[in-house]
Amino acid sequence: MSTLKLILVFIFVFAIVQMTRGDPDILSDYIGPINGIPDGNFFTFTGFRVLVSQKSPPPTFKILKASLVEFPALNGQSVSYAVLEFPAGSINPPHIHPRSSELLFLVQGTLQVGFVDTTNKLFTQNLQTGDLFVFPKGLVHFQHNADANNPALAISAFGSANAGTISFPNTLFNTSIDDTVLALAFKTDVATIQNLKKGFAS
Ligand SMILES: *[C@@H]1O[C@H](CO)[C@@H](O)[C@H](O)[C@H]1NC(C)=O
Repeated sequence: MSTLKLILVFIFVFAIVQMTRGDPDILSDYIGPINGIPDGNFFTFTGFRVLVSQKSPPPTFKILKASLVEFPALNGQSVSYAVLEFPAGSINPPHIHPRSSELLFLVQGTLQVGFVDTTNKLFTQNLQTGDLFVFPKGLVHFQHNADANNPALAISAFGSANAGTISFPNTLFNTSIDDTVLALAFKTDVATIQNLKKGFAS
């Protein structure tokens, strides 16, 4: 093999490793609490117990997270969870997770899901209870419980302790981006943009 080919192979392998790895490796078994010595409790998260005692689904779409913010023991472990609760007819609006792909497991109900790749190609599916769906890292995706009568519940796993979320409606219409910039971007007028922003005013 020529030197050039060898270098190209090295670059390619390095790029793949860079793309597929999770959070940076830590140089210890775990990152303990700032004050004190960790015990079993430090590695236990009880925030999902509410799901067991919950009598009825929430009135609006709800996310319960176990990321490093809620569960500090995840720091450096490159994993996290979220439980997604969808009342009948509700959505999780288009969003991206900049630091992780998402592996969704539909535990209850049905769910219409989709993502758009960087060539603008849309991939959708109507999931049945028990199905898994993977949303590739950094791509725009959404979920919709199209069932008008029944709730849906999904558990999502992430390959980062802090996957991060950028929700498009919120990022675009609930920040101070200039109305003219948005009007030009969406090929519409300022009044339409202000109307869209009204829905987010608190
Ligand atoms: C708009 O942004 C504020 C401040 O970040 C937030 O508290 C509020 O929930 C957002 N509104 C909506 C509808 O998402």
